[in-house]
Amino acid sequence: MESELRELLDKIKQEIATAQNEYELNNAKSHALGKKSVLTELMKKLSTLPIEERPVFGKAINDVKREIESLLEKRAQEILDHQYTQTIQQDRVDLTLPGFVPETGSLHPLTSIWRDIEDIFISLGFDVVEGPDIDDEYHNFDALNTPPDHPARNEMDTFYFKQSPENPLDNRLLLRSQTSTVQVRTMEQHRPPLKIISIGRCYRNDKPDASHSPFFHQCEGLAVDKGITFGDLRSILNSFAVKMFGKEIRSRFRPHFFPFTEPSAEFDLICFNCYGKGCNICKNSGWLEIAGAGMVDPNVFSMLNIDPEIYSGYAFGMGIDRITMLKYQIPDIRLLFENDLRFLQQFR
Ligand code: DAH
Repeated sequence: MESELRELLDKIKQEIATAQNEYELNNAKSHALGKKSVLTELMKKLSTLPIEERPVFGKAINDVKREIESLLEKRAQEILDHQYTQTIQQDRVDLTLPGFVPETGSLHPLTSIWRDIEDIFISLGFDVVEGPDIDDEYHNFDALNTPPDHPARNEMDTFYFKQSPENPLDNRLLLRSQTSTVQVRTMEQHRPPLKIISIGRCYRNDKPDASHSPFFHQCEGLAVDKGITFGDLRSILNSFAVKMFGKEIRSRFRPHFFPFTEPSAEFDLICFNCYGKGCNICKNSGWLEIAGAGMVDPNVFSMLNIDPEIYSGYAFGMGIDRITMLKYQIPDIRLLFENDLRFLQQFR
């Protein structure tokens, strides 16, 4: 029986030593100590031995059992240690490798200028309001004192929606061609004193080229109160120019015509490129136009039930795309809308 025990121990030792993982080790354990194991069989035989042999043999079995248990425990720890080292090696991070710099987004140049302009006018006491891109002939033309035969109303210039029962011919829906629609909507809803700006997209049936796009952006301004003068308009636009382009900027007003203002003017800035000498950017004039402006026409006030005998006001509409192009010296308006990353990444 003793030789049987030794043989068993050698076999089991071998199996434990070669177990590579928990599963194999569990198998070895049940071969060694399980219900059907040789050791269990030997234990059962114990009772068949003569009484005087039982203690010696019983002790031998117990010693073997204890040795097997300690071997199992040792091997289990080895397997765990091995697995741990392996995991550490596999998941090792090489701290000397160069890292990845995550791509960060940034504001579109037009958005930056849009926000700058809003901030400047807020600092000058204006409220910011919004108006719809889809408007109608009344708000885009009629209420702005624009006669029915004005060329801007032509379908060649303005995008109209298809005529339908919901879209009657006498006040067709259109994509607004100017943010001046928001002047009208503001005066419809609020009584003076008013001091607002509204920035948004406008649409015109223009063939795209370096300075034209079928959609573009304007900032409309309107101030209505008792005693507002052309001097206030000049002062506001000059303050804007200085805050936007710096103290050195020079500006001028040039007489012009708009149906909704009287008198009307265009507001020019000195050309950033030639500073007044004349170059191809300013078409040799030395100046770049950035806004139309004027004193609100009494007809517009009357149409909106504001008494022109009591109130006066100024209005202006400036080109945001034009200002962005001036500020960043962008030569072609289409660059603003093509979403070419090589262009946009310059504004990070
Ligand atoms: N709406 C005009 C345009 O698109 C710009 C303009 C001129 C707006 C004079 C005004 C204004 O409010 O008073 O050309």
